Amino acid sequence: MPYTVPKLKDFSPAALDKATVELLSALESESAAVDTESDWKAFRDRWIARKNGLLTQVNEQWLKTAPKDAKREVGQRVNELKKKVERQVEDTQSRVTLGDRLVELVGTDESKFRQEVKQARLERRHGAGPLDISLPGIRRPIGAEHAIIRTMNEIIAVFRNLGYSVAEGPVIETDYYNFEALNFPPNHPARDTQDTLFLATQESKPPRERLLLRTHTSPVQIRTMEKLKPPLRILVPGKVHRNDPPDASHSPMFHQVEGLAVDTNITFGDLKGTLDHAMKALFGSSVKTSFRPSFFPFTEPSAEMFVSCFICGGSGKRGAGTKGEPCRPCKQTGWIEILGCGMVDPNVFEFVKHNGYDPEKISGFAFGMGVDRIAMLKYGLDDLQLFFQGDVRFLEQFG
Ligand code: PHE
Repeated sequence: MPYTVPKLKDFSPAALDKATVELLSALESESAAVDTESDWKAFRDRWIARKNGLLTQVNEQWLKTAPKDAKREVGQRVNELKKKVERQVEDTQSRVTLGDRLVELVGTDESKFRQEVKQARLERRHGAGPLDISLPGIRRPIGAEHAIIRTMNEIIAVFRNLGYSVAEGPVIETDYYNFEALNFPPNHPARDTQDTLFLATQESKPPRERLLLRTHTSPVQIRTMEKLKPPLRILVPGKVHRNDPPDASHSPMFHQVEGLAVDTNITFGDLKGTLDHAMKALFGSSVKTSFRPSFFPFTEPSAEMFVSCFICGGSGKRGAGTKGEPCRPCKQTGWIEILGCGMVDPNVFEFVKHNGYDPEKISGFAFGMGVDRIAMLKYGLDDLQLFFQGDVRFLEQFG
């Protein structure tokens, strides 16, 4: 006969003791009979289902019917019972799902135990079988800062010390900010140097509102000058995209850090001094910088800046003397191209003149560097793709 909760007439401690003992022994023997997951569910529902579970019946038939002077005592006992029943239901579940059988086997036959562990492992790998508590747990390694983010932060730290603050802008940008306000007129050939990924179905919009993936961080120059009045010193880290197929030195997505300084009387000398200091802080005090003429529509004059190769020390050769191996990072030239820069073109200021940027009164310089390339040089990598493949063996080396 399965256990049923008796109605109580006698609420004396002795009678309560007896009823409690009966209930607990029923609980124990029913728990012991539970073998499978579905047994356990039935067991659980029988004892703790809110609607008509045995615990609910105890509440109804013992607590609610108790005379006033016994209520306190009965209440305490019922509470204790409730805890015991709930714990027993939990323990029973653990026993069933944790593969009690394996635990038993340890004491009996070792080879059989090993076999079962092997089997359970296989089953777990295939998503079946009980949970085997003898297996090692799942290790969740602590993440590490990605080498690119770390490099970005190092660059930012150098410029923060010079009084620059950080600005950011959207990766999905309008044609206006990415090109037009940076003095790339529509159809200007300079646009071809930045092979642009456009968003689909933009044709119905006016050209300057069409959306694209920004090809450089320079649009944030304009966005910031629209918001803040001069003087200004900002650094802009971020992702950019160009339609370049991935290879050892190209990626359709890469990272830049842009710099912009605007004030009265900013000169090319300020640009050179600032960048020379920054390169020494980043690559070591012995590096030299070299500026060579270049072209960007939004700077005039424009330059490309090189640093003396900190791998071969500028000699173009690695190893001892002049007989060493050819230095690859600098292609044996002794110089590595690091960034594009120049004095902000007055035409760019015209787009933000209404916010205090009168090219007659102020001047500024800007620069933009490729973070991925700098990180590759710093860590001596020969394949850019390593940064984006997410291979833990690579990433954990930066932990
Ligand atoms: N935006 C340019 C590029 O991506 C780099 C640059 C930034 C050049 C600022 C000059 C001034 O190639």
